[in-house]
Amino acid sequence: MTELERFQLTPDLSICRVLNGLWQVSGGHGPIDPDHAIAAMFDYQEAGFTTWDLADHYGPAEDLIGEFRLEWEDQKGKAALEQLQCFTKWFPTSGKMTRELVENNINVSCDRLGMDYLDLLQFHWADYQNQDYLEALYHLSELQKIGKIKHLALTNFDTEHLKIITEAGIKVISNQVQCSLIDRRPLFKMAKYCQEQDIKLLAYGTLAGGLLTDKYLGYSASLRLNNASLRKYHNIVQAWGGWPLLQQLLGILRKIADKHQASIANIALRYVLEQPMVAGAIVGTRLGITEHREDTAKVFSFSLDEEDYQALEPIWKKSRNLYQSIGDCGDEYRR
Ligand SMILES: NC(=O)c1ccc[n+]([C@@H]2O[C@H](COP(=O)([O-])OP(=O)(O)OC[C@H]3O[C@@H](n4cnc5c(N)ncnc54)[C@H](OP(=O)(O)O)[C@@H]3O)[C@@H](O)[C@H]2O)c1
Repeated sequence: MTELERFQLTPDLSICRVLNGLWQVSGGHGPIDPDHAIAAMFDYQEAGFTTWDLADHYGPAEDLIGEFRLEWEDQKGKAALEQLQCFTKWFPTSGKMTRELVENNINVSCDRLGMDYLDLLQFHWADYQNQDYLEALYHLSELQKIGKIKHLALTNFDTEHLKIITEAGIKVISNQVQCSLIDRRPLFKMAKYCQEQDIKLLAYGTLAGGLLTDKYLGYSASLRLNNASLRKYHNIVQAWGGWPLLQQLLGILRKIADKHQASIANIALRYVLEQPMVAGAIVGTRLGITEHREDTAKVFSFSLDEEDYQALEPIWKKSRNLYQSIGDCGDEYRR
């Protein structure tokens, strides 16, 4: 298998540039058998896919990681736990952002993961009208000072609010946002501001739930969208230009893929990894159901060249600008 590239996110935190996304175990992507899932986690980890993206609300994701850590330690010894990076998220649902509420939520995640501290906590906020997000982030920074959280990060924040947060003196190391060949919103404002502030991007939706893969080349628009990701990104495709334009894009990607002896998924992922400030791309993993490790690893065996980027230009010219129609990163969560 091609050697996997890593990225030094901070001096004490190295990640695999392709992260394993665990929204896919939450129930909306087919039933997950815990034993098969944990066996699959060993395969990912041993192959070098050591960085896991999860969230408090991804069904059993945090518990599965907790169980996996126990079994990994049993088999490989305590020191081997250092080889895993477990990035969770907190999506607050209600309540005044008191120290007690914030700390309780972090403790729940720590307990589920079987960790004394979180490697990286990615904070999401649903409503900018409610400015309590600054209060919550202040408490999270305090928890970081006492070692409960190693690194603080965000998800789905737009550039304007990322700026408010950094100007309030809160240091975040990354923002997790949707970024793909069809959703290029981070490239408008976000990437530039992140460059100024040295904040990295972790990208999701890179394969549009699987729509940006060989599987969907030549499919009619009436196909069954039988999981939550496919439905989510089908909406994005509709907003972007529709199914026929997606088919044109897949056709061009196939030609680029032929040139690099790669898959369409490789080209889609490679594109995201080559964008400014993108430290890593998350790929959803339906543990114990499907796996694409060997194919995914090939993303590190080539680069896109000028001719490839030029081949994509006509598609982008025909598509709608999602920055104008939806807004900046994460704005779809606030409409
Ligand atoms: N912060 C947020 O708000 C947010 C939102 C969404 C997602 N995320 C994160 O991003 C992760 C990724 O999820 P996503 O929904 O965006 O999905 P995605 O990564 O765009 O797509 C994942 C799907 O693509 C297919 N696939 C993966 N590698 C492939 C390959 N090499 N060849 C062919 N097909 C391949 C698989 O489909 P099959 O299983 O059908 O083969 C897989 O289930 C989530 O798990 C989560 O961690 C975060």
